[in-house]
Amino acid sequence: MSIPKQAGSTLTEDSAGDGEVLLRVSGLKKHFPIRKGLLQRQTGAVRAVDGIDFEVRKGETLGVVGESGCGKSTMGRLITRLLEPTGGTVEFEGRDITHLGVGQMRPMRRDVQMIFQDPYSSLNPRHTIGTIVGAPFKLQGVQPEGGVKKEVQRLLSVVGLNPEHYNRYPHEFSGGQRQRIGIARALALNPKLVVADEPVSALDVSIQAQVVNLLDDLQEELGLTYVIIAHDLSVVRHVSDRIAVMYLGKIVELADRESLYTAPMHPYTKALMSAVPIPDPKRRGVKSERILLRGDVPSPIAPPSGCRFHTRCWKATEVCRTTEPPLLELKPGQRVACHHPENFQDQQPQDTVLLSVAKEAAELVADEVLAESAETSAAVAAVAAEVSEAAEAPVAEDASEAAAAEDDAEAPASEDVTDGDNK
Ligand SMILES: Nc1ncnc2c1ncn2[C@@H]1O[C@H](COP(=O)(O)OP(=O)(O)OP(=O)(O)O)[C@@H](O)[C@H]1O
Ligand code: SF4
Ligand SMILES: [Mg+2]
Repeated sequence: MSIPKQAGSTLTEDSAGDGEVLLRVSGLKKHFPIRKGLLQRQTGAVRAVDGIDFEVRKGETLGVVGESGCGKSTMGRLITRLLEPTGGTVEFEGRDITHLGVGQMRPMRRDVQMIFQDPYSSLNPRHTIGTIVGAPFKLQGVQPEGGVKKEVQRLLSVVGLNPEHYNRYPHEFSGGQRQRIGIARALALNPKLVVADEPVSALDVSIQAQVVNLLDDLQEELGLTYVIIAHDLSVVRHVSDRIAVMYLGKIVELADRESLYTAPMHPYTKALMSAVPIPDPKRRGVKSERILLRGDVPSPIAPPSGCRFHTRCWKATEVCRTTEPPLLELKPGQRVACHHPENFQDQQPQDTVLLSVAKEAAELVADEVLAESAETSAAVAAVAAEVSEAAEAPVAEDASEAAAAEDDAEAPASEDVTDGDNK
């Protein structure tokens, strides 16, 4: 492959020492103002992204999942600087790019590229494929060795298209082929970071796998770093190294793929996971393994108080309603924002009085899921207890109203997950 691998001399080391950080996002916010009346006075704001922190390491794929409207695309547009953030910072290769102007961003545009969801509307129908894929060279004033045409033809063959089709128009291609054209365009300037917003959701299932595999192969060959956005976990499952789960403008869990799939800690992640069919023959006979989340995602104009998921969570207690849980690293490499995390010693609500919404939601949780959760939690707790025998446990509240906690309340909650509000 003739596109050279990226050099990364100015990268900073990840705090966990797990690799060089290419992109670091801190407290990132985007509030879209709502204006009304003749004077267009601001009456409120859509808090599409409301304070998120994460980093993307060089060479990795970070998957971002969450229900429709939770702010994934807005996040993608913020990190590629197609949108101006309301607050927080975006650092690329250690450089603060949060408020760079158009001129200052131009050289950066080569390094950060975006692939869009809809291959039908994202390609200009009046331009040939050659013009579309060659456009970035024109925009950036770059003259590739051997000329634009030759380079575009090379890019077309890199993404599995016939270079002879250089003069054809988008309508002459299928959805999957159009997405390959979009990928070729994104790769033209040899980017370091590619943000793919729902790159396959407009495609047939059979074609989705081909495009996902292409992205995977290109990453290996070209040393790319990806942020791949999807609304369900099945798309990012096989390609992501780490996965961030978003809910209503916040990241609620961020973990490596293995931990997220084997022991999700946020109840919302668990609900999303239960919607993904698991191709495991041992579990084929098990019925109703699904957590059906009741109702829609609440409005980002007035998100619920405390934990934003408390209006739909089957474990919600009073503290969830009043106090926003901060995103904390509860296990190595696994950050979660929850007062009563799953698969953790203190997964039981220590305040055993569930909110009424939780009692209703609990009816929707299959027994098998609860039993499995309790089993996993017990196993994890046993290992954790061995590791930290000396850890001092805080005193548990008197659980006089033990309505919902009949089973394994094996460990009391740690204080530190309840006392933050990182709005
Ligand atoms: N330009 C805008 N002006 C006002 N509100 C916006 C704008 N763009 C997005 N929003 C709102 O911000 C919220 C997050 O939108 P976003 O498109 O980021 O969600 P998403 O997670 O990508 O959803 P989907 O899965 O449907 O693509 C939504 O409530 C949306 O209506
Ligand atoms: S903090 Fe409470 S409401 Fe939010 S996810 Fe955790 S248990 Fe559910
Ligand atoms: Mg979107």
